[in-house]
Amino acid sequence: MSRLHALRGMTLSFNDDPGTSDQPHDGTVEFQKDGLIIIQEGRILHSGPASLLLETLPEGTPIDHWPDQLIMPGFIDPHLHYSQLDITASYGRQLLDWLNTYTFPEESRFSERAYADEIANAFLEQLLANGVTTALAFCTTHPASVEALFTAASDRNMRMLGGKVMMDRNAPEALCDTPETGIRDSRRLIEKWHDHGRLEYAITPRFAPTSTPEQLAATGRLLSDYPGMVMQTHLSENRQEVDWVASLFPEARDYLDVYSQYHLVRPRAIFAHGIHIDDDVRQRLADDGGAIAFCPSSNLFLGSGLFDWRSAREQEVRVGIASDIGAGTSFSPFQTLQDAYKVGQLSHQPLTPWQAFYAYTLGNARVLDIDHHIGSLDAGKEADITVINPRATPMLARKDRHDPTLMEQLFNLMILGDERCISATYIMGRKIYDAQNS
Ligand code: GUN
Ligand code: ZN
Repeated sequence: MSRLHALRGMTLSFNDDPGTSDQPHDGTVEFQKDGLIIIQEGRILHSGPASLLLETLPEGTPIDHWPDQLIMPGFIDPHLHYSQLDITASYGRQLLDWLNTYTFPEESRFSERAYADEIANAFLEQLLANGVTTALAFCTTHPASVEALFTAASDRNMRMLGGKVMMDRNAPEALCDTPETGIRDSRRLIEKWHDHGRLEYAITPRFAPTSTPEQLAATGRLLSDYPGMVMQTHLSENRQEVDWVASLFPEARDYLDVYSQYHLVRPRAIFAHGIHIDDDVRQRLADDGGAIAFCPSSNLFLGSGLFDWRSAREQEVRVGIASDIGAGTSFSPFQTLQDAYKVGQLSHQPLTPWQAFYAYTLGNARVLDIDHHIGSLDAGKEADITVINPRATPMLARKDRHDPTLMEQLFNLMILGDERCISATYIMGRKIYDAQNS
């Protein structure tokens, strides 16, 4: 038998959606005050109570012991832009001005491979320091930007999804491709990187305003050649943007319909934002299997609006929670969840801690349809794991003196936590980030 090793601590994982009430649905939460996760060849062999599993471990098996720390599946971020790392926290604009003023100039720099490499590596280090082990990322128009991200992810053996932005209008010349080159470059990158180790290519038309009908049609044809592939874009984030789409595509019923006309609304299609939508759009998203990435930090930062999660839930639209770096302002899932909670409060739909932590693990894995690989601590899953210190900051330490329940402890983390709470991050069972050494 090949070598085993184990992690020991408070283990927390979800088997299913816990629902929206303060009490999670029976059987959805898997928690062990003293749990053990046994790992073999990068995968979880067993997880459960340490008292039972320790007896089964061969003598001398190495154990990383994290007493009173929470051990969870690595967090999953289903929408962000790695190329926007350095323009995070850019002042004073809403979406369309923000794109023109800050985003496009920065993205232009990614034609240079060395620059893309530097940002890609720094970006992945940020993810890992925040306990995020997988993301679905926008790159830029340049194939070099995808090469840089996938090389850096592959070096760390991370499960990573991403793709080259396609846009052929309404952006600076240097950032535009054409329907032909956009598809040709995407195909080349797919052949090289898709399913290469733990990497997945994602077909990436930026959003309706920056693609001609010809490019969207070509994108639909590309997707029909790769029917199981993720498609990522943006939908109804900002009112000005929605009006612009209506003027650019006068024949479309609404914004979503632009994508539907080109066969882009389907399972594994991830639409970031989806704020300014109605019941009819939600119904079509649910019927066609498309998902929304709710990006609360970004939506507040750009003044885009308040996502209506309750209606999405009621209409059975798949919804993930995402940072949307660099319009979102933090890599930390705790901070993003804090913003999601506050957005929810404004419409009397507070996010429960159960729902929050489910969303950032198994929920987002399901949204991306990668839950057969990651998202929980079940036997057979890849051992992407994060270790969380619930007393990492002075405020959290104070709160912890009051003997919180698990629900309270999770809520304290999502409201008061940040990257200081991440003690370690493991990729395929290997400790790749340790706060002690950073
Ligand atoms: N819509 C089109 N491109 C972008 C982007 O880069 N960020 C955000 N937040 N919205 C977009
Ligand atoms: Zn985005």
